[in-house]
Amino acid sequence: MTAGSRITRRGLLTGGAAAAVGAVAACAAEPASAPRAVAATGPTAVPAGSAVEPFHGVHQAGIATAPQTHAAFVGLDLRPGTDREAIVRMMRLLTDDARRLTAGTPALADTEPELATLPARLTITFGFGPGLFTAAKAEHLRPEAVAPLPAFSVDKLQKRWSGGDLLLQICADDALTVAHALRMTVKDARAFATVRWVQRGFRRPPHVQAPGLTQRNVMGQLDGTVNPRPGTADFDRAVWISEGPDGMRGGTTLVLRRIRAELETWDAVDRTGKEFTVGRRLQDGAPLTGRTEHDEPDFAELTPAGFPVIAEQAHIRRAHVADPGLRIFRRVYNYDEGLSTDGHADAGLLFASYQADIARQFTPVQKRLAEADLLNEWTTPIGSAVFAVPPGCAPGGWIGQTLLS
Ligand code: HEM
Repeated sequence: MTAGSRITRRGLLTGGAAAAVGAVAACAAEPASAPRAVAATGPTAVPAGSAVEPFHGVHQAGIATAPQTHAAFVGLDLRPGTDREAIVRMMRLLTDDARRLTAGTPALADTEPELATLPARLTITFGFGPGLFTAAKAEHLRPEAVAPLPAFSVDKLQKRWSGGDLLLQICADDALTVAHALRMTVKDARAFATVRWVQRGFRRPPHVQAPGLTQRNVMGQLDGTVNPRPGTADFDRAVWISEGPDGMRGGTTLVLRRIRAELETWDAVDRTGKEFTVGRRLQDGAPLTGRTEHDEPDFAELTPAGFPVIAEQAHIRRAHVADPGLRIFRRVYNYDEGLSTDGHADAGLLFASYQADIARQFTPVQKRLAEADLLNEWTTPIGSAVFAVPPGCAPGGWIGQTLLS
């Protein structure tokens, strides 16, 4: 057997075979005209598995945190009879899990402790649905708009992706870390709650695309250009609750919409049509009236024929909010759940929108989009859930303490 014949196709595709490939390339007597072997490359960056996002703080992690590559949103229903005291026990337990796992240490009674050692920027964020406030007899502490949203004409909501009493938002740069954290936390929640839905999403990882750059969604668009920037006064005003009952100060609210992308019909649209729909160019995300991604759109500019360059029903015109402190914060993930038997993708966006006040910020935008947004032709909301996201906690504290203790 020659050295070459021992290299399997699978081996060639893995980094482990890199040395062998190099040896073969060096030994083989290739004719001068043959394509030159490309130097094998491996990961160049330092492994980021041990990177930690701080768990404690005024706000929960996982919101202002630079979005990680993988997300699992888990909606749970409290078991009948789970009262305030039980909810407190559950939140103490889950906070302890989150505190440990995000630091790269196993959860208590972790069945696979080795899986906990690479947190990869793990964050576990908790949200309380309307039903949790009812079960805890804490209705007076629920932000008023944390309630089912008004029905929108575009909605085709499915129960299997909607509602929920408790949310776990688990994000990390590694899918195995997310899977482990999900299993540990759901296991500990089991005595108190049942799983209603799990929604998994992904973005491009930081070693593939620099974290500061805008991501593309499954429809091919740069998505996230106009968004409050963490660390700015506008972000703080837009996202964190600073009014109302003390218990939610420093918290926020989350609207999670599962929006299916109708990729088959979107594929049939030409480039000009796609850009007209959103009001931005596909290649660089620049507004149709500008040159680069972050140029201000000029909504007043007209074509020589007298029509608006950015159409009246273009997505960015309908979604635009002039006051940066009243914008929603979009921390969006793609989903792709495979193919139907005839090859149609089940894909779209897990549209996670954070805002201090749903009624003031999210609902008016969603209403305008439902009334008239060219994008509606190719997007369908199929899931919807709202949660109050309590403030963060200090070492020794637990999430929800400001509301429930
Ligand atoms: C699958 C559904 C959706 C897709 C594919 C989508 C895509 C986009 C794209 C490509 C942009 C332009 C780039 C950017 O600024 O991020 C954008 C902007 C925006 N979208 Fe969406 N979007 C979707 C649903 C929604 C929904 C449901 C809302 C809110 C209820 C929303 C709110 C916004 C806002 C506020 C902006 C920024 C507008 C501005 O320029 O001021 N989008 N979206």
